[in-house]
Amino acid sequence: KRPAGAPDKGLARPVTKVGVVGAGLMASQLALLFARRLGVPVVMTDLDEERVARGVGYVHHEVDQLLAKRRISPDTASFLTGLVTGTTSKDGFADADLVIEAVFEEMSVKQQVFAEVEAVVTPECVLATNTSSLSVTEMASGLAHPERVVGLHFFNPVAVMPLLEVIPGERTDEATLATAFAVGKGLKKTCIRSTDSASFVVNRLLGRFMGEYSRVVDEGTPVEVADRGVAGLAPMPPFVLLGLVGPAIALHNSETLHRAFGDRFFVSPTLRRLVEAGKRGYYASDDTGRPV
Ligand code: CAA
Repeated sequence: KRPAGAPDKGLARPVTKVGVVGAGLMASQLALLFARRLGVPVVMTDLDEERVARGVGYVHHEVDQLLAKRRISPDTASFLTGLVTGTTSKDGFADADLVIEAVFEEMSVKQQVFAEVEAVVTPECVLATNTSSLSVTEMASGLAHPERVVGLHFFNPVAVMPLLEVIPGERTDEATLATAFAVGKGLKKTCIRSTDSASFVVNRLLGRFMGEYSRVVDEGTPVEVADRGVAGLAPMPPFVLLGLVGPAIALHNSETLHRAFGDRFFVSPTLRRLVEAGKRGYYASDDTGRPV
């Protein structure tokens, strides 16, 4: 069944090579997903060799895990590790049909990345952003071909979470959107078409939920008590989830929503202090247990 708002799949263009800008955790998870599900070469780029090596290392580690669990054969494992390469140059994107960025969550950084990518790729190459809250329309403005820009918002952990938000910007054309939905289907994700408003659909809903949780803690309830309070209602206690997503992303999301919708969205001072202190979450690790 065609997802609501998805264009005719006949308009979709084939994707035979994928570029990923960034080699951080989200980007590396995406690189593996594209290689595993689409079986196409994936080239990852980042600013320096160290970051690139870390990203490629992550992919190799995850492939080893899949092999150890016998989810894939040794042949598939070496096929996958061969598919994912990393470099500091964007020249490898020249023959890509889709390039997705998963860099720092800042509009000017993402616009700069897209401008650099556009200088290398073909006019038909789809440029996707994995932003969790920023405007796709604004990100595409200033490009020669804004019609090929689309939001593809994945959820952490990428390999496991079934949902993919597909977000057309104001100028996204039907072929780009059809390609985005076809790719989502190839990745075995459930695609929904979201609107290009602050934090789209999922993070806007999650933002209200997390905001109220943060308020409970800011008003004095211990983190571990609040987290236990939701046991059974969500797959992961909210503050453990916050550690998985990363406090900086969570803070950015709540600030974006607060700017867009005012006091309906709470920006937690405790969360801000946590980010300023460079902490990775409310807990010492991502497990429940010792608070930081
Ligand atoms: N990477 C790859 N695979 C992972 C993983 C990771 N980081 N974490 C867990 N998995 C896999 C495990 O390997 C396991 O796979 P197998 O069955 O093949 O062995 C499977 O997921 C289940 O894991 P577990 O049995 O260890 O644990 P679980 O049943 O508690 O599930 C979970 C773990 C899937 C992460 C679950 O706790 C969950 O769904 N949590 C909520 C996550 C969530 O809400 N994510 C959205 C965050 S919001 C976001 O990402 C948006 C944004 O813009 C910031």
